[in-house]
Amino acid sequence: MATERTASADPEMDRRLMAVALRLGRRNLGSTAPAPAVGTLVVGFEAEGPVIVGRGATGDDGTSQAEIAALTAAGAAARGATVYTTLEPSPNPLDGVSAVEALISAGVARVISALENPDPRVAGRGHAQLRDAGIAVVTGVLGDEARRLHAGPISVLAAGRPHVTLKLAVSADGMIGRLAGERMLVSGREAFARLQTMRIEADATLIGIGTALVDDPSLTVRVPGLRAHSPIRIVLDTQARLSPTSSLVKGAGDTALWLVTSSEAPLSNRDRLAAAGVEVINVGTGSGGVDIEAALRLLAERGVTRLLVEGGAKVAASLLHRGLLDEVVLFHAPVVVGPDGVRALAGGALSAIERSPRFRRIEETRLGEDRMVRYERSV
Ligand SMILES: NC(=O)c1ccc[n+]([C@@H]2O[C@H](COP(=O)([O-])OP(=O)(O)OC[C@H]3O[C@@H](n4cnc5c(N)ncnc54)[C@H](OP(=O)(O)O)[C@@H]3O)[C@@H](O)[C@H]2O)c1
Repeated sequence: MATERTASADPEMDRRLMAVALRLGRRNLGSTAPAPAVGTLVVGFEAEGPVIVGRGATGDDGTSQAEIAALTAAGAAARGATVYTTLEPSPNPLDGVSAVEALISAGVARVISALENPDPRVAGRGHAQLRDAGIAVVTGVLGDEARRLHAGPISVLAAGRPHVTLKLAVSADGMIGRLAGERMLVSGREAFARLQTMRIEADATLIGIGTALVDDPSLTVRVPGLRAHSPIRIVLDTQARLSPTSSLVKGAGDTALWLVTSSEAPLSNRDRLAAAGVEVINVGTGSGGVDIEAALRLLAERGVTRLLVEGGAKVAASLLHRGLLDEVVLFHAPVVVGPDGVRALAGGALSAIERSPRFRRIEETRLGEDRMVRYERSV
């Protein structure tokens, strides 16, 4: 016999359950692009409290919908239940079934949605159709958190480019490396571990050729068992100078490597890299290298919604000066590099981020010896 369920009218309970749905969605960040990483819960309210009867998240590459997965898991228990979902359900069919239709035919009583989907193909129609079917709809629960979770697809829709996060590890004297061109680890183990999560949650990670030549990084995820979650690796390299024997190129068979270059690059360099499995992409030149705005547009067209930028100084400065940074993560390390070091923003002061009204500090956390500070674009 089906248990009678009444909808919660408790806003604090709604926020707590939405926080669970947000965590569920976040687990798949970096795997669902270009689709948003949605999390959905189906909750029955029993006499003793809420019971989660179904959980769902957007599938890899956005091929399956969170709401459908959660309803499938709930089965008959979805009738009369409350659904918590991090984004407005879509009225448009995917594989022949729309999330809105599935919610209606499952007989849910109430849908709590964190955010209206700004995609013009949805834009309020999902909520409206649910209401028309007699389902109670509450929107905007933990909306700011949902906007952060879905910042990638939102940025592609609003600005035609991915959401861009810059990460830099900075010494106590404002340097990110040694001028001599030798590799230097600025931050410690805990910061490196945090960086792994940032890579997993990104669709792609990007560096300039300066960093590739000095550091010879591989930019993959090093967490055991999670290497397959490595983001696409991207190098900005006007002349296609990247060495075919670099770690990046050697790993191109396992993890995609895109070289964003220009027609100025010698054909022989481009051909050699393409033959080694690198995807060579041409864009025009701009000041300081390739046209970075065109490069970002192109990444969005290729389905990249969340871009992590791992340096170095010139690429960081290019993005900052063009107003293309949405988030900045600084790992402040207690080491001193000295006056010969590489300044974090290629000569520009970090105060252009730390004291700019364009950014607000949203998090400060100690990571071992280091201090992580996160900034978010304020306008
Ligand atoms: N501590 C950290 O977090 C961190 C992170 C990364 C790097 N680093 C350090 O930073 C240093 C490298 O910094 P860097 O400034 O020399 O190198 P970078 O920013 O990685 O690369 C700069 C180069 O990228 C190319 N590029 C292409 N398009 C560009 C554009 N639109 N804007 C800017 N650059 C563009 C340019 O070379 P072409 O003109 O040849 O294309 C440019 O000289 C190294 O010492 C490295 O160890 C530290």
